[in-house]
Amino acid sequence: MEKDIIYMHSSEKMHELEDKSINLVVTSPPYNINNVYGNRTREGRKIESKGVKYADNLPEEEYRRMLGAVFSECRRALTDDGSIWINIKSRYDGKRILPPFWICDYFPDMFLKNIIIWNFDWGGSTNTRFAPRYEFVFWFTKDATNYKFNLDAVKIPALNYRPDRYKSQMKNPSDVWKIPMISGNFLERTGHPAQYPEKLVERIVLAASDKGDTVLDPFMGSGTTGAVAKRLGRRYIGYEIVPEYVEMANARISGQGAPEDDKKR
Ligand SMILES: C[S@@+](CC[C@H](N)C(=O)[O-])C[C@H]1O[C@@H](n2cnc3c(N)ncnc32)[C@H](O)[C@@H]1O
Repeated sequence: MEKDIIYMHSSEKMHELEDKSINLVVTSPPYNINNVYGNRTREGRKIESKGVKYADNLPEEEYRRMLGAVFSECRRALTDDGSIWINIKSRYDGKRILPPFWICDYFPDMFLKNIIIWNFDWGGSTNTRFAPRYEFVFWFTKDATNYKFNLDAVKIPALNYRPDRYKSQMKNPSDVWKIPMISGNFLERTGHPAQYPEKLVERIVLAASDKGDTVLDPFMGSGTTGAVAKRLGRRYIGYEIVPEYVEMANARISGQGAPEDDKKR
């Protein structure tokens, strides 16, 4: 099975993947929020802006069917101790919030271990309700007890621990993660309009896989998952339907250096 590759076709069929060959799936599916990403509005009118665009507006039934096919392929390809991490957010139809808990319906035979709240400071503004400043990451394992969780690799400094009481000055980072959203002036920013941060993927890859493991992203976009997997000594496989994004992701991943800190892990 070929690794360190991005296939340019829909992940509804990932026939290149052998059964039980993927250790970890990290992904952010299209949200189907009726956006043409990359466009902005001014005074209520859509205006063109920079970046490669994609339409995130499938009919709801088609969207749910597509996700069902992709997740079923992910489960087939997952090792027995593997896990699936999905970043998704609530939708807002102009009147009410539509939370994404329906995602759990796709994994009745898997084990939901955490719903991570990814909290950030930056985003759209509104004066009709509180400004939304979090997204979810759902973590499902294939087995209830036999799964990878390298807690030591992701512990954070415990600033308020008394040294005389606690040997370790490091602690579990909890299920609320404060990680900045990618803004226009971030070094890792690409032309993809719905990029997730490397820091978010980094914590998942370190916690839920080992060096040499294979990480799959069925919605690869600008290649964030691949770039992080490679930098941390893992292999990657991606799927993406927009040719410009595949090109962007390959360029990004091949130009990726390994910062000194990551070489030690
Ligand atoms: C939310 S974006 C992922 C962004 C990515 N996490 C990043 O950091 O750049 C979803 C991506 O899925 C792609 N996509 C949509 N439907 C797909 C399908 N059926 N198969 C593969 N890719 C698909 C879109 O073109 C888009 O780039």
